[in-house]
Amino acid sequence: MIMSSPSLGAPAPAESAVQAPILAIESSCDDTACAILTPDGTILAETVLSQSGHIPFGGVVPEIAARAHLAALPGLVRQTLDVASLPAEALGAVAASTGPGLIGGLIVGAGVGKGLAVALGRPFIAVNHIEAHALTARLPGLVPGGAQFPYLLLLVSGGHCQCIAVEGVGHYRKLGGTIDDAAGEAFDKVAKMLGLGWPGGPAVEALAREGDPAPWPLPRPLHGRPGCDFSFSGLKTAVAQKLAPYAMDALPRPVAAGIAASFQNAVADIVGDRVAHALDMMPDATLLVAAGGVAANGALRARLDTLAQTRGLPFAAPPLRLCTDNAVMVGWAAIETLRARHALGLPPLDELDLLPRPRWPLDQMAARLDVTAA
Ligand code: KG4
Ligand code: ZN
Repeated sequence: MIMSSPSLGAPAPAESAVQAPILAIESSCDDTACAILTPDGTILAETVLSQSGHIPFGGVVPEIAARAHLAALPGLVRQTLDVASLPAEALGAVAASTGPGLIGGLIVGAGVGKGLAVALGRPFIAVNHIEAHALTARLPGLVPGGAQFPYLLLLVSGGHCQCIAVEGVGHYRKLGGTIDDAAGEAFDKVAKMLGLGWPGGPAVEALAREGDPAPWPLPRPLHGRPGCDFSFSGLKTAVAQKLAPYAMDALPRPVAAGIAASFQNAVADIVGDRVAHALDMMPDATLLVAAGGVAANGALRARLDTLAQTRGLPFAAPPLRLCTDNAVMVGWAAIETLRARHALGLPPLDELDLLPRPRWPLDQMAARLDVTAA
């Protein structure tokens, strides 16, 4: 027999989803994160656990990541509710990154989120991780005057490298993306070749500060080509060729620093050129936004800032903790989607049936806001 016991006095799920705080979970890669936001975007609590089990392997190991999410998440949810000083019953909805990403971590995060939603009798919102990155700049207070649509998003992380036209909630156009490595992956691989730790981006940036790039010219793949696709694998191979004459344990520091500086300049040139083309492809863009771990890179930020200025556009990069993977962006994407559906007269989402998916193209998100299909 199936029994139900709705809690007396609690708002109906349909209303509470857009009126009460939302708990969000992020576990699509190697960070386990949880957050609670009110419907106006106020962050009541945010917690992140970075996994260290991958360090000896020089990159994310999916099985290690999934197990670490499973070990961390229940406690992290409890801790996040405590930080927000909220009982679980006060939540109006639960959201989790449900794709794209590493399937083990997605199953853990979505599974915990769905279990909580069912136990509380609240809707579950399946969030597209890339959509969450794309909408972060719209969190109240991040961009002076608010990030209005349409804007161009450059997403540069360890797993992603793409230019996206953000035209509205649910409405995204991928203008171009990497045909081989992501930018962060290239930083991590070059860091490994230089004998630096993982993640490599910050270590390469630090070493580049003391280097002279001039003696170490490197190629800029796809530079000047039409469109805004990216390629980093030829650059990575060129770095390996420059390093070939040296034994790893006898690499002179000025050589390592010079190559790091030259590599970083090449990445900034490539990305700057590709984003310039993306802006040409999106003449109605009112803002340039950069997100993802590589957006922390000072040289890259400076290049993008200058580019935006020459086009008469503002440039925004969310603070680092919201650029890298986090649960605040997941909660905010859910809030934006719930609001947009509410404004269209569509019922709130409840996506218990939506299975975690390693791939989830952004162009599928518009279907959620299609009034004709309702
Ligand atoms: O967004 P993120 O935290 O995680 C995902 O990959 O989704 O991005 C991590 C990536 C790593 O490849 C890391 O080396 C790179 O961002 N990164 C940087 C810097 N800080 C992090 N790359 C260049 N310069 C940095 N300062
Ligand atoms: Zn991400």
